[in-house]
Amino acid sequence: MTLPARLADLFPREADLPAEHVPAELPLEQREYLVDGALRRWEGPRQEVLSPVCLRAGDAVAPQRLGAYPLLGRREAMAALAAARRAWDEGRGRWPTLPVAARIEHVERFALRMVEHRDTIVRLLMWEIGKTLPDARKEFDRTVDYIRDTVDALKDLDRVSSRFLIEDGILAQVRRAPLGAVLCMGPYNYPLNETFTTLIPALIMGNCVVFKPPRLGVLLHRPLLEAFRDCFPPGVVNTVTGDGREVAGPLMASGGVDALAFIGSSRVADLLKSQHPRPHRLRSVLGLEAKNPAVVLADADLELAAAECLLGALSFNGQRCTALKILFVHESRLDEMLERLAAGIAELRAGMPWQEGVRLTPLPERAAVDYQASLLADAVAKGAAVVNPRGGEACATYIHPALVHPVASGMRLYAEEQFGPLVPVLPFRDAAEPVRFVVESNYGQQVSLFGEDPERMARLIDPLVNQVCRVNLNSQCQRGPDTFPFTGRKDSAEGTLSVSDALRVFTIRTLVAAKGTPANKALVTGILRERRSDFLSTDFLL
Ligand code: G3H
Repeated sequence: MTLPARLADLFPREADLPAEHVPAELPLEQREYLVDGALRRWEGPRQEVLSPVCLRAGDAVAPQRLGAYPLLGRREAMAALAAARRAWDEGRGRWPTLPVAARIEHVERFALRMVEHRDTIVRLLMWEIGKTLPDARKEFDRTVDYIRDTVDALKDLDRVSSRFLIEDGILAQVRRAPLGAVLCMGPYNYPLNETFTTLIPALIMGNCVVFKPPRLGVLLHRPLLEAFRDCFPPGVVNTVTGDGREVAGPLMASGGVDALAFIGSSRVADLLKSQHPRPHRLRSVLGLEAKNPAVVLADADLELAAAECLLGALSFNGQRCTALKILFVHESRLDEMLERLAAGIAELRAGMPWQEGVRLTPLPERAAVDYQASLLADAVAKGAAVVNPRGGEACATYIHPALVHPVASGMRLYAEEQFGPLVPVLPFRDAAEPVRFVVESNYGQQVSLFGEDPERMARLIDPLVNQVCRVNLNSQCQRGPDTFPFTGRKDSAEGTLSVSDALRVFTIRTLVAAKGTPANKALVTGILRERRSDFLSTDFLL
């Protein structure tokens, strides 16, 4: 048994905390934010940050205070946007006109500075959002790799753009030009990685950025503010923290945001977009919610299917947009699958993020536990049961995974994205049933199919590829590798992200063209030979 008899015993006593995994500076009293190349000090109200890691004292379990961050207001947010717009300077600013090689140098310098803070950020990922130590390290390293891959992808893109095209007697050079001021907002489950997968490409392509960390996962960005300040010209990177309605709403309503990169809920994305006064001037890159199903066919290898479904449903306690959020199991294999899933859950070790082998950790805030409990209560009231021992048992910020069966339409768990450790299971007789679920769902990100018969699998692949954006065969749903396109249909996404796609979404193709007359050829050659233009150039990046 991996779960203590009293759930409260999952939480440590203060005296038991391992010094090497506790943030060195506690509490972390953040008062700074970065605007126009300077760290400004905030004396106004701040948001208290409580850790998902609670502390046990006697019989009581109490949340541990991590620190606080500035609750900036409209004025500060508008100052950040004004700084970004000044740095952009209608496309004539230093940053948007800097040669690609020089922008790459700035980003590489930043990546080196960032690596110095690995240990601090990894600890904060554990303490601020409850991510396990290996996953926190993976998030950090994956982000650094993403930056390096972005640099390589940009070099490739630039090499292609360094050529001239000659068509129908017209010569042209086509490049990708930046859009202007970009507002980047990442999600709490990947506060570093998913913020940076839009922030870095937007920046490296010459845009000027305001970025707002998610409500949960702010303090871990604090160590990077000096690096941003030192590695980029003033105004190119600005940060705002605080309530989204107070800071992001006014930015959108001002019309000064040219591109919105937002990873979060479609409700908030729609609200932000609707606040922009000139919608056609706004480019949106959105990663939104999903309800990715697994479909376990009658001939599936259940050992593999159960392992992948558990990984898909419960990595980071189910808090991934790509998580498997509903499992359709062929009725002929239902009992065996439920048994395997329940046994698998019992094997998962629950505990604190730094503990060896821990797979289940507390949720970032108490409200998330209450939300899971309300979904579970609704399902149970409507006829479902919790199949695994102690499923749904909760204490403070921890809620134990619940395998819930039979889930049916009409239950909230059938349609809502739980984003937590609830694993709903539905039996099906005909494969058309899960397909109908996908068609009728508001979401269209990915699906996982488990089966061995090529004919049966192909008959599901074909209708599903036009409903979702990735069909995974005998594998959980996931975003990576980051070079693969990541997107979704319906309420799940807008725009496509991957290392190379992200360079495209934050830019627009612009060309300089001329009829190929001798005079124009001489003109263009003169510009190129003397290197008079940054845009019109055949310089080659190696
Ligand atoms: O939250 C959604 C993430 O993009 C999922 O990424 O599949 O690599 O965990 P992942």
